[in-house]
Amino acid sequence: MASLWGGRFEKEMDELVKQFNASIGFDKRMYSEDIDGSIAHVTMLAAQGIVTEEEKEQIVRGLEKIREKIYNGDIVFNVDDEDIHMGIESRLIEEIGETGKKLHTARSRNDQCQVDGRLYLKKEIRQILHRLFYLESVILKKAEKYADSITVGFTHMQHAQPITLGFVFMAYFQMFRRDISRLIDTYERMDFCPLGSCALAGTTLPIDRHKTAELLGFSAPTENAMDSVSDRDYSLEFLSDASISMMHLSRWAEEFVWWNSQEFSYIAIDDSYCTGSSIMPQKKNPDMAELLRGKVGRVYGDLMQLLTVMKGTPLAYNKDFQEDKESLFDAIDTWKASIQIFANMLDKTEFRMDQIEKQFSKGFLNATDIAEHFAKQGIPFRQAHSIVGQMVKTCEHRGCDFEDLTDEELQAIDPRVTRESLGDIGIKACVDARVSYGGTAPSEVRRQIKEGTEWLESLSDWK
Ligand code: ARG
Repeated sequence: MASLWGGRFEKEMDELVKQFNASIGFDKRMYSEDIDGSIAHVTMLAAQGIVTEEEKEQIVRGLEKIREKIYNGDIVFNVDDEDIHMGIESRLIEEIGETGKKLHTARSRNDQCQVDGRLYLKKEIRQILHRLFYLESVILKKAEKYADSITVGFTHMQHAQPITLGFVFMAYFQMFRRDISRLIDTYERMDFCPLGSCALAGTTLPIDRHKTAELLGFSAPTENAMDSVSDRDYSLEFLSDASISMMHLSRWAEEFVWWNSQEFSYIAIDDSYCTGSSIMPQKKNPDMAELLRGKVGRVYGDLMQLLTVMKGTPLAYNKDFQEDKESLFDAIDTWKASIQIFANMLDKTEFRMDQIEKQFSKGFLNATDIAEHFAKQGIPFRQAHSIVGQMVKTCEHRGCDFEDLTDEELQAIDPRVTRESLGDIGIKACVDARVSYGGTAPSEVRRQIKEGTEWLESLSDWK
């Protein structure tokens, strides 16, 4: 089959070259966006008097028929189609004849693939936002449920201070909140229509790019044709957003693996989110959490792939750019599935407070609280820190807790300290008192939940 661009060629393409050159295998995903772009384009051409109303009607009807046929699987593309743009254009010419040949007036595949890509990504971003909103709503629900539940806070994977579980949930809430805001930024920055940039330099035909932009739901046309056909920043931004968000999912997935281990036993992941072993009958493995931790690797790879493709490309279009799609699609699919799996797994996970409580006696979780208590009594914090450090040393020698220290032992460390001066150093009192803005106290976590809920509701335009 002669290609649509075959006029100046004397020989057919080599078979291997055809296969190597074709993007139809993957860009057919964007068929519906390609048709939307063509319909907007021909509508503008008719409004500008470049094609007649009847020609436009015929082309639009032909394109809608092709959309339906592709949807129903009645059109099977192959490497002769080269890419989705020519695949659809040649089907249109088959369908409606000569008039179909007018569609490609004042456009190029260079701007066409860009309008498809942007339309497709905008649609997917909205879907990913929905999933992130769902994840955030699950987090808020759990944070409320566990707002008063105390757990161990770690630094360096060592017992640090007592915190509430609701506080842990709200920490992750903030990460995904930033992911959402990054994604909205990306969407708004990419919301410009490249169609009509043509090959690289615009056109001599009297087109109206503002009209096409409006018809396709973009905020405005892009400013510079040469940049428009060469720009893949929006994909790179999306891949960066995806990488950062996958990293967040992976960090929490890592915590799930630990929490689910026999050593921790903080949670028991729901059976429906675990798998067994083919040899060890007793095994119930946290595979989904591990797989999520692993999936981030592919998304980082997708980002590095496209950054590398772009780094040596001069203006304007280069065929290298065709390599922008598979990594983007892979990241979209992976991120979308990962959010969904994680949100559902989280929803089904309950915490084993009896197991968590067993850890409170280890690691002097209330040490900082005692030092702060001394500081409130006028002892300079640096001294208070040293006093509690010596209390820890004494306890470790004796194998006991702060509560077990005698007045004599305390006075030997510092004459200002008695058992009574320690005040209430119970784990609950410690947590309840951490009311500083952004702190872990249940009252403060509830404020964070309220603020987070209001923020989520303020995004209703994106829902
Ligand atoms: N399949 C191409 C791509 O995805 C479309 C643009 C091709 N343009 C060209 N002049 N070869 O990048």
